[in-house]
Amino acid sequence: MSLLIHHIGLLATPTGSRAKSGDGQGDILLIEDAYVLIEGSTILRVGQGEPEETADERIDAGGCLVTPGLIDAHTHLVFGGWREHELSLKLQGVSYLEILARGGGILSTVRATREASEEELEEKAAKALDTMLRHGTTTCEAKSGYGLDLETELKQLRVVRRLAKRQKVELVSTFMGAHALPKEHADDREGYIRLLTDEILPAVAREGLAEFCDVFCESGVFTAAESRRILLRAQALGLRSKIHADEIEAIGGSELAGEIGAVTAEHLIAATDGGIDALARGGVIACLLPATSLYLGKPYARAREMVRRGVPVCVATDFNPGSCPGSSLQLAMNLACWYCRLLPAEVLTAVTLNAAAAIGREKEIGTLERGKRADLVLWNCDNLDHLFYRFGENLAGTVIKEGRVAAG
Ligand code: NIG
Ligand code: FE
Repeated sequence: MSLLIHHIGLLATPTGSRAKSGDGQGDILLIEDAYVLIEGSTILRVGQGEPEETADERIDAGGCLVTPGLIDAHTHLVFGGWREHELSLKLQGVSYLEILARGGGILSTVRATREASEEELEEKAAKALDTMLRHGTTTCEAKSGYGLDLETELKQLRVVRRLAKRQKVELVSTFMGAHALPKEHADDREGYIRLLTDEILPAVAREGLAEFCDVFCESGVFTAAESRRILLRAQALGLRSKIHADEIEAIGGSELAGEIGAVTAEHLIAATDGGIDALARGGVIACLLPATSLYLGKPYARAREMVRRGVPVCVATDFNPGSCPGSSLQLAMNLACWYCRLLPAEVLTAVTLNAAAAIGREKEIGTLERGKRADLVLWNCDNLDHLFYRFGENLAGTVIKEGRVAAG
């Protein structure tokens, strides 16, 4: 089955199959009056005007902007309950880490996730994915980390595996058992790290439940030395590394990411110049989460400095019930412009090609080019600047996933 999308006012896409950095971050291909010819689930050709071949089906884009499908490279998709009671605490000045230290925060979501059945978790996450898809997200990374025991970590990851089969957003799984110290190990850090490295990680690898392992490397959570130990064990079991690094305090997470060849370092709000250089040297992608800065009332990551120092920048939501209870990648894109000072073309690369590279999918998705999967969004606007200048409304029109209309 072939599908032609034509009368595209402006097609905007990065090109290639590697993360872009420096000047390359904003170097995108723009084609006016464009078409995309799709065969099955794959792009056959992108061009200007009309193609010579006919197609089985046609969609008239009516002069709109078309980009690759958005890729949300950082979410905590599967969780029980919400945490609306924390809003008033935060408004009264109780900090994120203090709520966690009192047994709330991540630990209260752990309680709710342990109590929830697999079916409940699945239905809730399916709804979130449906919302994301309607907002233009065609691929999404999903972290575990609200189980913090063998049974519940596997439960979260199995939910992702089932969701991958039953709905349209493509999913990539990350094991994040090192998200917090569970209550039953509050006085036994070593015991929990051993549980992770000797039992849970091998079980995750045996069942093939995750491609990546992530660690919350933060004051009061896991030190850089503990993070190194967990991530190296995961690497030995075949899971590539991600690190929640320098989110609130810089305790060596970026340096560790560079040292162990992590694919991404995430958050980086507090990253130092030395940390940024370590990312550049290690070829690590910076995954920035500006909606979390907004929600926690924190500064924004120094994206311009990262681009200047040659670090490829990705932007994602961080969707989770605590620090970012919203799944709109469009909002994160707005914020990346306004507060991270990235230009629209740079942000487009950040949520497509660089996001694909952040989850190991840069050869398959993230650009509109021959041979890539046909994931794209027809936007309700006709130029790229417009997409970033408007906010608070969903501008995604028709969303195509693997050559089929998935939403809109
Ligand atoms: O990325 N930083 C750690 N994890 C999440 C928050 C999770 C939560 O508060 O439930 C984050 O911000
Ligand atoms: Fe996160």
